[in-house]
Amino acid sequence: MAAKPGSDLAGNELYDLIESYRTTVIIYVAARLGIADILAHGAKGAGELAQATGAHESSLRRLMRGLIAIGICTQTADGRFELTPTGRPMAASADRSMKAWALFEGGMLYRGWEAMLDSIRAGKTAAELAGVDNYFELMARNPEAVEVFNAAMLSLTNRILPAVLEAFDFSGITRLMDVGGGYGQLLCAILKQHQSLRGVVFDLPRCAEGAKKQIAEAGVGTRAEFSAGNFFESVPGGADAIVMKSIIHDWNDERSIKILRNCRQALPARGKLLLVERLMPERLEANADHRAVVTGDLNMLRGPGGCERTESEYRELLGKGGFRLTRVAEAGRVNVIESAPA
Ligand SMILES: C[S@@+](CC[C@H](N)C(=O)[O-])C[C@H]1O[C@@H](n2cnc3c(N)ncnc32)[C@H](O)[C@@H]1O
Repeated sequence: MAAKPGSDLAGNELYDLIESYRTTVIIYVAARLGIADILAHGAKGAGELAQATGAHESSLRRLMRGLIAIGICTQTADGRFELTPTGRPMAASADRSMKAWALFEGGMLYRGWEAMLDSIRAGKTAAELAGVDNYFELMARNPEAVEVFNAAMLSLTNRILPAVLEAFDFSGITRLMDVGGGYGQLLCAILKQHQSLRGVVFDLPRCAEGAKKQIAEAGVGTRAEFSAGNFFESVPGGADAIVMKSIIHDWNDERSIKILRNCRQALPARGKLLLVERLMPERLEANADHRAVVTGDLNMLRGPGGCERTESEYRELLGKGGFRLTRVAEAGRVNVIESAPA
């Protein structure tokens, strides 16, 4: 599109970046009101949406304009609203729904990021600034937050499953353990694809109920189980491969090495370790993919205290944990980092 006369493109770009949190808020409010859940059944007018959500009609109409401007909705010729392909995963019923992530980002992370300045100044996580050693312990004080977090992780993991299943051939594995597996979304998807594989979801006791439900719903109950424990203390043996998705990036080097060593102890000499993580590019550019890694890194800084690492940083860290990095496969925005006991 040609620039409008007198327009200040660089200034506009900067302005848009400065106010970009407004987009998160628009999406969050729409998720709380369940707008996409209603529109998933077909186009609706502002009056119908107001009635279904209990919101103030003319204010809701303005929110809907916001959803159009950011590409979540469009308007039909008769003025009703409908979801765009980008907006469809906002419905809870959608395949690979992102609603739970929108609720987590807008309801929890967004508030946490307000205090990013304190973390950058002090070099400490939010938990450390509150006098608590571990982010997950701080989160446990609020069971509702744990539920929102686990549901969000489930939706995020759901999104990258096809790419991970394509990037790595799990057929040579007999028993796979998903360490820090949360509700077991990843393990269940792998087990569904490989009928002879058995598996274990290992996580804190608070994930037991959600993981058992997930295992039952996935129809893999005869081949999968949940095991409760603490990966800083030990990781149970019995698996010939361990997968950890979004675990090592949570922790600083010292804690990551502890987890890796416990995994090494749990694995046989011919075992495999698979990390599913985003890689920090060696050289950054201003694009959406790199922005996702860098904002993820800052999120780790403020949250659990970890970071996004480059491939060479992973190689070194794995070496300290008793592993030798053997292959990195791209899986969309994440990577499958394969290693063997050193
Ligand atoms: C970022 S989430 C990743 C969940 C899952 N792997 C995924 O990607 O969807 C981190 C997971 O680590 C688990 N976790 C945190 N501390 C743990 C510990 N000390 N021992 C075992 N699991 C832990 C959390 O309960 C949570 O499920």
